[in-house]
Amino acid sequence: MAKRQDSSLKKRFVVDSQVEMTQLVLPNDTNQLGNLLGGRLMEWMDIAAAVSAQRHSNRICVTAGVDNLVFHQPIRLGEVVTLRASVNRAFKTSMEVGVQVVAENQLTGYRKTANTAYFTFVAVDENNNPANVFPIVPQSKEEKRRYREALQRRLMRLRRRKNS
Ligand SMILES: CC(C)(COP(=O)(O)OP(=O)(O)OC[C@H]1O[C@@H](n2cnc3c(N)ncnc32)[C@H](O)[C@@H]1OP(=O)(O)O)[C@@H](O)C(=O)NCCC(=O)NCCS
Repeated sequence: MAKRQDSSLKKRFVVDSQVEMTQLVLPNDTNQLGNLLGGRLMEWMDIAAAVSAQRHSNRICVTAGVDNLVFHQPIRLGEVVTLRASVNRAFKTSMEVGVQVVAENQLTGYRKTANTAYFTFVAVDENNNPANVFPIVPQSKEEKRRYREALQRRLMRLRRRKNS
């Protein structure tokens, strides 16, 4: 089997971690009001974010935490949901993945940002121990802003973890 390269030798870009996932909201995904279940949306977001983290790290990644999960607007039966995920910043063994959810009514063409959240994923090795991940290089202005802000959010998470 090919030997894994030393992570410090590999440069990865945010664009390499990008994931786009599309789902059609069907009756089994909704509550009695015909709105998409929050839990179903969280599951889709978790999967999109996991694929992004794994694309970046080439490792199995587990969800360590989620923050800023806000349901801005309901998503209706029959709408098409597009989830976009990418790694905002990679730390030692963890990564912050940003996920944005856009819902589209295909009869009117109207699109709305329904949801955003930050997921923390940890890469694990063959023994399920945290494993180092490649650094990430932000390129665009937006990527650089997210990269900067991800560090502030990480410091808050570390503080929360210490106090819990
Ligand atoms: C996530 C997990 C692997 C971390 O293991 P651990 O023994 O706590 O490891 P450490 O304390 O060394 O932390 C490893 C990294 O995770 C981060 N981390 C751990 N818990 C975290 C949390 N609640 N929120 C954010 N980051 C967290 C640490 O900051 C550290 O990041 P760094 O290496 O980039 O600095 C472990 O807690 C776990 O397996 N949790 C369950 C995961 C799970 O079952 N998820 C759902 C299904 S995928």
